[in-house]
Amino acid sequence: MIQNIDKILDEARQFSAGTREEIEQFRIKYLGKKGILSDLFSIFKEVPADQKKEMGKKINELKQFVAERIETLLSNLSDENDSSDSADLTLPGPPMQPGARHPISVVRNQIIEIFTSLGYNISEGPEIEDDWHVFSALNFPPEHPARDMQDTFFIEKDPDILLRTHTSSVQVRVMEKEQPPIRTISPGRVFRNEAISARAHCIFHQVEGLYIDENVSFADLKQTLLYFAREMFGKEVEIRLRPSYFPFTEPSAEMDISCQICGGRGCNVCKYTGWLEILGCGMVDPNVLEYNNIDSKKYTGFAFGMGIERVAMLKYQVKDLRLYFENDVRFLEQFRAAY
Ligand code: PHE
Repeated sequence: MIQNIDKILDEARQFSAGTREEIEQFRIKYLGKKGILSDLFSIFKEVPADQKKEMGKKINELKQFVAERIETLLSNLSDENDSSDSADLTLPGPPMQPGARHPISVVRNQIIEIFTSLGYNISEGPEIEDDWHVFSALNFPPEHPARDMQDTFFIEKDPDILLRTHTSSVQVRVMEKEQPPIRTISPGRVFRNEAISARAHCIFHQVEGLYIDENVSFADLKQTLLYFAREMFGKEVEIRLRPSYFPFTEPSAEMDISCQICGGRGCNVCKYTGWLEILGCGMVDPNVLEYNNIDSKKYTGFAFGMGIERVAMLKYQVKDLRLYFENDVRFLEQFRAAY
């Protein structure tokens, strides 16, 4: 009998297995109600008194060994952080990081919201365009420098196929299809052959607007842009219009807003002028209306165009344009509060 117990002990020593399930099997086999030890105890009752002492010692040795073995195996298991059934379901889950919209999308959506609240619809068009929609229909003379290789990415020459340099091309497509009243904005990506720096990029985003109807005046343009500036930058903002030149508008202007940093007193952001340039605008040149079969005797209109990156830079005081294109999450997640 004693040898039998030694054999059982040897066998138990061999057990080293891994999973919680296997350890439980091991426990049941030795310590369970119908297990080996319970059998041994029943035999123990029957053995002659002179053998009881030695056998009792052996049985206890076995019992102690099995119990200790189970304990070490189980603690090894939780050290290794064994998955499945050892998971503590009462622990709070890992934190979930909510995503953030890209600042360019945030600002584009704000611009769109402001103009749609004034009754403008949204028009979109292709990024790969022909010469007609980007230049000729907009009254660019054949020798205009914007058509030059230095400004425009050409895909094919004769006939010219190119990447649009502004979304005014979309407005040509609208005028082709529709008669006034036209009130539309064209958000989109544009391309210019520029060296990438903190202040310039070869890809950027624009929102351009077009309003054509009877009796549309420069006063309407100014009031629309003032409304836009106040909605975008706050009620205190002031605007000023400086005479400028664009082939497709006459008269043309550039709009500045009062510097949001110094409130117009002058600082290094506005280069001590108190003003920041934000967009180009003007009254649609009658030639452009005629090229697009709109009667320039009956209708007048205004147009404006702005860079979304520029508006975002002014709004968020981000001075390096490249940050908008690198998609570094440490930059992007700062806009989580924006919508
Ligand atoms: N298309 C011009 C640009 O890309 C902006 C503009 C639009 C100016 C409409 C005047 C009128 O810079």
